[in-house]
Amino acid sequence: MDRLKGKVVIITGAASGMGLAGAQLFAKEGAKVVATDVVVDVLEEKVNEIVANGGDALAIQLDVSQPDSWHTVIEKTLEKYGKVDVLVNNAGIHIPKGILEAELDDWNKVMSINTTGVWLGMKAVIPHMQKNGGGSIVNTSSIAAIVGGFGDGHGAAYSASKGAVRALTKHAAQWFGEGNIRVNSVHPGAIFTGMVEKAGIKTQEEMGTHYEGRSALKPYAGEALDIANAYLYLASDESKYVTGLELVVDGGWTTRS
Ligand SMILES: NC(=O)c1ccc[n+]([C@@H]2O[C@H](COP(=O)([O-])OP(=O)(O)OC[C@H]3O[C@@H](n4cnc5c(N)ncnc54)[C@H](O)[C@@H]3O)[C@@H](O)[C@H]2O)c1
Repeated sequence: MDRLKGKVVIITGAASGMGLAGAQLFAKEGAKVVATDVVVDVLEEKVNEIVANGGDALAIQLDVSQPDSWHTVIEKTLEKYGKVDVLVNNAGIHIPKGILEAELDDWNKVMSINTTGVWLGMKAVIPHMQKNGGGSIVNTSSIAAIVGGFGDGHGAAYSASKGAVRALTKHAAQWFGEGNIRVNSVHPGAIFTGMVEKAGIKTQEEMGTHYEGRSALKPYAGEALDIANAYLYLASDESKYVTGLELVVDGGWTTRS
């Protein structure tokens, strides 16, 4: 119950999917949760539910691609909670266009949220973690950073953006380890979330039928909580000697030849 007791955790993309599951789980585990998202009305509704269930949480609007938006989040977090222990850079978008179909605007949009947003988040919190004697940063990548094909949903910019997150995580793990700041990436496989619902798939089982045989584990698609549990491990002190890790949560997809 208290795996994050007293820790101040900022999580991005917390109005839906893995980010929402993470915010709910962190609150249950005793964290003070700063839940952020570009979609503020749904976010506030979800945060009110967390608080009604006894959690300590604050909703703040954030567009991860905008430096000023990050400044506001840091300011409000310090004002309410006084420090930042954990950042989960979870927000992301997918545009299903390959190299030939994508336009420059598609490319720039995906990169600005999925990659630039992760860099801006780390840039915003690291000075405060340094002052605080350390911290944990969890960056959401994807199996698209490891394999091509179905695993990237035919998104050229998406694959590139998630590959960049994988490399940036290792860069940060090396350069900030001395300051006791741990930086790890999580690589989800096919996971049923709002992102998938937007593509017209209605249930986890239905998603699994599209990917049958790709993962080793049934129902061939995971749920948001599977990823939230990975976030929890990396956010908590249980992973205090873990940095630069790629934690793959894909039901075995990437281990198949
Ligand atoms: N669902 C999958 O199968 C899958 C697989 C691999 C990786 N991922 C990654 O997992 C992460 C979470 O995705 P999800 O499936 O839960 O998606 P989701 O669409 O359910 O949730 C993503 C959240 O990010 C928010 N967001 C979008 N743009 C933003 C911005 N500019 N600033 C702040 N918030 C913004 C959205 O409003 C949404 O609430 C993403 O980084 C995604 O790329 C998902």
